[in-house]
Amino acid sequence: TDPARIRNFCIIAHIDHGKSTLADRMLGITGIVADRDMRAQYLDRMDIERERGITIKSQAVRMPWQVDGETFALNMIDTPGHVDFSYEVSRSLAACEGAILLVDAAQGIEAQTLANLYLALENDLEIIPVLNKIDLPAADPEKYAREIAQLIGGDPDDVLRVSGKTGMGVEDLLDRVVQRVPAPVGVADAPARAMIFDSVYDSYRGVVTYVRMVDGKLDPRERIQMMSTKATHEILEIGVSSPEPKPTKGLGVGEVGYLITGVKDVRQSKVGDTVTNSAKPASDALPGYTDPLPMVFSGIYPIDGSDYPVLREALDKLKLSDAALQYEPETSVALGFGFRCGFLGLLHLEIITERLRREFDLDLITTAPSVPYEVTTEDRKTVTVTNPSEYPTGAKIHEVLEPIVSASILAPKDYVGAIMELCQSRRGTMKSMDYLGEDRVELKYTLPLGEIVFDFFDQLKSKTQGYASLDYEPAGEAPGDLVKVDILLQGEAVDAFSAIVHKDKAYAYGTMMAQRLRELIPRQQFEVPIQAAIGARIIARESIRAMRKDVLAKCYGGDITRKRKLLEKQKEGKKRMKMVGRVEVPQEAFIAALSGD
Ligand code: GTP
Repeated sequence: TDPARIRNFCIIAHIDHGKSTLADRMLGITGIVADRDMRAQYLDRMDIERERGITIKSQAVRMPWQVDGETFALNMIDTPGHVDFSYEVSRSLAACEGAILLVDAAQGIEAQTLANLYLALENDLEIIPVLNKIDLPAADPEKYAREIAQLIGGDPDDVLRVSGKTGMGVEDLLDRVVQRVPAPVGVADAPARAMIFDSVYDSYRGVVTYVRMVDGKLDPRERIQMMSTKATHEILEIGVSSPEPKPTKGLGVGEVGYLITGVKDVRQSKVGDTVTNSAKPASDALPGYTDPLPMVFSGIYPIDGSDYPVLREALDKLKLSDAALQYEPETSVALGFGFRCGFLGLLHLEIITERLRREFDLDLITTAPSVPYEVTTEDRKTVTVTNPSEYPTGAKIHEVLEPIVSASILAPKDYVGAIMELCQSRRGTMKSMDYLGEDRVELKYTLPLGEIVFDFFDQLKSKTQGYASLDYEPAGEAPGDLVKVDILLQGEAVDAFSAIVHKDKAYAYGTMMAQRLRELIPRQQFEVPIQAAIGARIIARESIRAMRKDVLAKCYGGDITRKRKLLEKQKEGKKRMKMVGRVEVPQEAFIAALSGD
């Protein structure tokens, strides 16, 4: 295809502002999906995505569209909307020349609208502002068109009004994409350079790599090279999605499509990497490749220890389609054998645990999420601690650095007080407060990531009746007054309950866990002290009183079958007991204490 007839664009929007519905509508209007084949959210392929209405992996689709008798190829690149996947968002944006800025006409601009808009502007994309859901009775397009115009400049009348649901205005929007989005430019006879903006594992075809061609050409059966690793592969199939995969004779400048090389692991085809010809490689890779770093860590354990091999296999499988997932084996006194896993963020953690439960039928327990801390001891040795049990104990601690994020919170002005209170209690520092339009305020804070992973979002939602939206990005590290709190049963630390917390919150954490365990652990033959400690210093204490009664005492010796039943029951119970020192603890107690039930 002649690059002059190609338009590459994406839709950026806050969650629930209707991106998928609009994308589906475009597939219908351009005729590439017949109405009878239309199912809700055609592009969101993963079941979990469809159920939760969130987009996790991006997809690209090519649609024909005629303007003034000329046919154009519109490549729509779907982007994930959530902060956890901002690296994937930025790669998808880098594959486009334009972006539709989609805003719900009954809600106005939200935190992810802004975050994605800034990313789009950084990538020099042409922005097409659009108000969606104008069919809603609550829609106030006049008000929000002013809000958008104030934000990006321009005339409020220039903001298109559409409804993805009814299809109103969508044809005009496609025309505008052709008129406003610049055609791609590239050097046709240079060595090939194609950016990988997505890489998806398919159990039948192996890894499907989605690319945006910048320079040159890629042909079927050609050998290609990944520029970050120098690994070479043969292209078994090359084509475009419209939206089902359709093999082509190759891809040229500005085109968007997919490659299949037979590799089985997405790590061999990484998002952000540059693909080039192996015979005639380009000298410079396209800019912007980084390995996504996990920021949230948690231990994942099977509730039934015999499921451990199944869990290992399941993680191996998920890793094939998710280059950002990390894991290594870990053992815990309380929970047995499991894995310490690293995630991009909380949503990523939730998605993975949900998939493990659902697709692999596993019963799991996860330990409280933790962030990576840089701990330097008095002798100037620094370790990265992603698990409280790795916290250095021998030497004195010189300094602890914790990851910091810069957060943007948008909410109606009535909630400013509640938000400030919450951020303060989470050690936040306010950076700015701005009015966007008549009653919406943007608050900027820097906050420790460790405070955000601990139910911050739920608190924010409940304190603002669901009206606030949040977005954040990493902003380096800062020293924090952090300590490790251990929970001891009869003097022995129970690893799964150790936590790294701020000094001011250590006491609250210690008492809470000690009380929970006192309620959950059954009495033993002897008294069991439960203590919370920072190093050797005890900060809280509870105790479980000794038990006297013999289980068989109530049987009076008469009924032998009853006696046997009781003994058997006791034995069954024993199987799920964990020993901490001399203390016998049913695993359920640990699980309940961790899940806070
Ligand atoms: P993410 O994939 O999570 O980013 O969500 P999304 O932006 O793709 O939103 P989605 O298309 O799933 O729509 C969210 C909700 O808004 C759904 O309940 C849709 O039915 C509804 N919706 C989408 N477009 C319209 C519209 O034009 N009018 C009305 N009334 N409802 C709409």
